Amino acid sequence: MKITIDGPVASGKTAVGRALARRIAARFLDTGTMYRAATWAALQRNLDFSNADSLAKLVQSLSIEVILEDGEHVLKVNGADITDFLRDPDVEANVSQLSQVRQVRHELVNQQRTIADNGNIVVAGRDIGTVVIPDANLKIYLDASIDIRARRRHDEMRRKGNIANLGKLIEDIKTRDTMDSKRDESPLVAASDALIINTDRLRIDQIVTRIMQSMEQK
Ligand code: DC
Repeated sequence: MKITIDGPVASGKTAVGRALARRIAARFLDTGTMYRAATWAALQRNLDFSNADSLAKLVQSLSIEVILEDGEHVLKVNGADITDFLRDPDVEANVSQLSQVRQVRHELVNQQRTIADNGNIVVAGRDIGTVVIPDANLKIYLDASIDIRARRRHDEMRRKGNIANLGKLIEDIKTRDTMDSKRDESPLVAASDALIINTDRLRIDQIVTRIMQSMEQK
């Protein structure tokens, strides 16, 4: 059983995917962590994010390991655990640009397919239902308004002790939405056979219940 969950920044994909995977005893893969790990490695090497070739070469030469444990992810780059750096502001600011590069996507998509081939899994990302696993058993596309997504991200950051400016978060999310959905290579778009769920007024457990209902109807 393979279930895909796509959607824009802060749409709730990760929380929903993790909760759903727990409910159905499947593994959970959040593919955004892989693009983030590659971005971290490019920052370490001071690469120019407008140079697609150097980003592609880097990703082809890296060993990115994703270790999945009960919904949590440990990311290793060339053997070093870099999980704590995945949400660094620098990573956040550059990941959309790296993820536009065709050869970078090609490399990471291959790795994602290999991980997904090994049994039951819920996979979250932007292009999972359209490109990575087009023959998935169930495809979900989560959506929510910008204001709600920014507020959720704001609350999440506050829980971690970080103060964020809501207006700036809204602007950042808009910028990343535009980059993710306007890129030439596998843009963010709902698969034609995806179940689209607007999560503005739903809690995570309600979204999971809705997904479980549509699994039963299949
Ligand atoms: O889901 P996230 O915010 O952690 O993803 C970080 C970035 O990675 C996102 O801005 C676009 C990119 N990404 C992608 O292009 N394709 C995916 N399947 C997952 C993430």
